[in-house]
Amino acid sequence: MLLNSLTSTFKNIFNEPPSASFFAPGRVNLIGEHIDYNGGLVFPCAITKGTYAVVSKRADSTFKLYSENFRDLGIIEFDLDNLPLNASGEWTNYVKGVLSILIEKGYRIPFGLNIVVYGDLPNGAGLSSSASLELLMCKVFDTFYNLKLTPTDMALIGKQTENDYIGVSSGIMDQFAIALGKKGSALLLNCNSQEYEYVPFDMQDYQLVIMNTNKRRELADSKYNERFNECQTVLEQLKLHYPITYLCNLKESQLAEISKLNLDPILMKRLRHVITENERVLMSTKYLANNDIIGFGKLLNASHHSLQHDYEVTGIELDTLVHAALDAGAIGARMTGAGFGGCAISLVQTSKMDTFIQKVGAHYEKTIGYAASFYNATIGDGPIQLA
Ligand code: GLA
Repeated sequence: MLLNSLTSTFKNIFNEPPSASFFAPGRVNLIGEHIDYNGGLVFPCAITKGTYAVVSKRADSTFKLYSENFRDLGIIEFDLDNLPLNASGEWTNYVKGVLSILIEKGYRIPFGLNIVVYGDLPNGAGLSSSASLELLMCKVFDTFYNLKLTPTDMALIGKQTENDYIGVSSGIMDQFAIALGKKGSALLLNCNSQEYEYVPFDMQDYQLVIMNTNKRRELADSKYNERFNECQTVLEQLKLHYPITYLCNLKESQLAEISKLNLDPILMKRLRHVITENERVLMSTKYLANNDIIGFGKLLNASHHSLQHDYEVTGIELDTLVHAALDAGAIGARMTGAGFGGCAISLVQTSKMDTFIQKVGAHYEKTIGYAASFYNATIGDGPIQLA
């Protein structure tokens, strides 16, 4: 249905049918927040919501792009020989960023494309709509230009786009979670070595509910880079005392000793979040291996508490949602992604879903003044060519 409608939009614009269609998912991070750029463990999964593209080859070096999500921007056009980013920061910058990196790396891009895109991920909501678009473009370019990119190559190209072109110091988690997405499994990723393993995520009688604060979070505008820099500062200070490369090389048992170094109290809080969160990821996989979903839920709560009080990236909207979710019977809830708005996740008994959404929704609207949105998260596969 969705593809039919995208195909007819494509035909209206380009007077021909597309020759191929693609999908790349978004992601939720189950646990391991603000850990990827500190060289530790994260535990995200791809979801069945994501971004679609229908595409055809052009005879020249022009790209013509249209997004159903940004209809007012109309058709955006640029040439392969001229790829400067648009200062207004609109969505095609991600496409230009991926192309620029491929060219920089020596891949041959011999012709342009016509592309129509649509995403059913809310933008700027912490479900990685931008990484989804980056990985979608990697998949499209890989197919049309026969680049032979592996999922890891695609993840690294997506990350570089974010860091070098969009200007966000983000880590590798989102792009990896999407590139390596696998139905029914979460990905335990070591962000330092880039080794990973799939962990089947059996939710038993529970469902993973995504709760959107509907407060937009712009990564580049947010305090994301500030947290990144705080971690770099504390790392440099600790390197004088410990033989470490990343903050996640340290253990929770070392915190008491580190506190004697009299670091800035704010930096000490950031550090405590990073070290304890990294250990919560390992514990999570152990609980899940033992089918202990209740134990896993408690770790989600501890993660949110740490992100609220030590890392200070939540805010009234996320805290209200998470606390309302626990009051309404969730066995675990936490913000997911960068924070400062965006989405939270919660584990809720399937039979109690309707009353849960009603209760949390009403409390949120009464407290914050506008409504939250709720989605059922299904764990899905990575980027694919659909037809
Ligand atoms: C954003 C970034 C990721 C990661 C998370 C926080 O999603 O893109 O690299 O740092 O925030 O865990």
